[in-house]
Amino acid sequence: MKKNIIHILLAAGLAAVSACTALHPDSKTLKTALKNDFYMGTAMNLPQIYGKDKKSVDIIKKQFNSIVAENCMKSMYLQPREGAFHFEDADRFVDFGEQNNMFIIGHTLIWHSQAPRWFFTDNVGKDVSPEVLKQRMKNHITTVMSRYKGRIKGWDVVNEAILEDGTYRKSKFYEILGEEFIPLAFQYAHEADPSAELYYNDYNEWYPAKKETVIQLIKKLKSKGLRIDAVGMQAHLGMDGPLIKEYETAIVDYAAAGVKVNITELDISPLPNPGKMTANISDTIAYREEINPYTHGLPKNIETEWENRYLDFFRLFLKHHDKIERVTVWGVADTDSWKNNFPVHGRTDYPLLFDRNYQEKPLVKKIIRLAEEQK
Ligand code: G3I
Repeated sequence: MKKNIIHILLAAGLAAVSACTALHPDSKTLKTALKNDFYMGTAMNLPQIYGKDKKSVDIIKKQFNSIVAENCMKSMYLQPREGAFHFEDADRFVDFGEQNNMFIIGHTLIWHSQAPRWFFTDNVGKDVSPEVLKQRMKNHITTVMSRYKGRIKGWDVVNEAILEDGTYRKSKFYEILGEEFIPLAFQYAHEADPSAELYYNDYNEWYPAKKETVIQLIKKLKSKGLRIDAVGMQAHLGMDGPLIKEYETAIVDYAAAGVKVNITELDISPLPNPGKMTANISDTIAYREEINPYTHGLPKNIETEWENRYLDFFRLFLKHHDKIERVTVWGVADTDSWKNNFPVHGRTDYPLLFDRNYQEKPLVKKIIRLAEEQK
């Protein structure tokens, strides 16, 4: 009898502890706290894909339920020479995603940057004809998407084709094929894997003129009966702009055009914008100090401003969770961020959710609490 009572008390104690744990926001991770709102993703680099950066890999498994390759699925890496495909890195990336139950994203099929030169030129270096470029696009898209058919769930089919003033970027794709290169890419992509979600991905898509052209593009694709599931809004943000309101208008307007929104490539840099410098560039020391001011860590007041900006954006994403399928940060820890070298080479930047020692920043728990509060 006494034994039974002890068992009952022990079981009750355990149940109480686990109930507390289940309810306590501090025990949650990003992916669990946000699971009813949107996927929470990250970009992966090669050391992570190959498991060499163990600290980041642990974070990715614990915090994220979606992944995208930061570089290794761009055309210059996948098809460095015509017909010579290199799939080793991408295969490892997809294996990692499947082993960890991730929503896997392909980035990116048609992008003017990081495309190999051969894609656009003949054997004497002249631009190829429209027919040849169409054939090369089709072959690239079909070969890559067929390999990961049913495994990669969504693709950035076309990346960064429209400028802030609403005109088309004068890329080689555009010069040779005109605006039609985009519908063609979506057509080839859908033919290659009818089950895959297809996205148009770009930066600064909250600029009104750019947004208008992207919306026209969505309408054009839909009127041709082509599939487009979402607009990917890259979110390489700074402290000065855009306003939350501007970003919100864009999310609402894209959703009204009949697509979901993916918040892709999220990072917020607390560093000064080089366009607003006061130091003279010829005064090297003063210039370096002003442009790269936090080499030994972020001052508390700047960290607070930076956190608040992130939280403002997450508040916005949560408010519009019905329109947003995924939020993806562009990397895990500050030390690996591309922002350390852009727009100025060699700065110490702090745009991500994990610090240079792979420790979770206090912001992570604040995002989790925000998600819990909105329930
Ligand atoms: O792989 C080589 C390595 O062998 C070499 O030693 C090293 C020396 O610089 O360069 C390595 O390649 C770099 C590559 O990243 C991998 O680290 C390239 O130089 C560098 O240009 C490349 O930068 C990437 C950039 O796209 C290229 O345009 C960034 O990591 C990546 O974050 C960035 O991602 C883009 C998105 O795809 C599209 N939207 C904008 C975003 C930021 O530019």
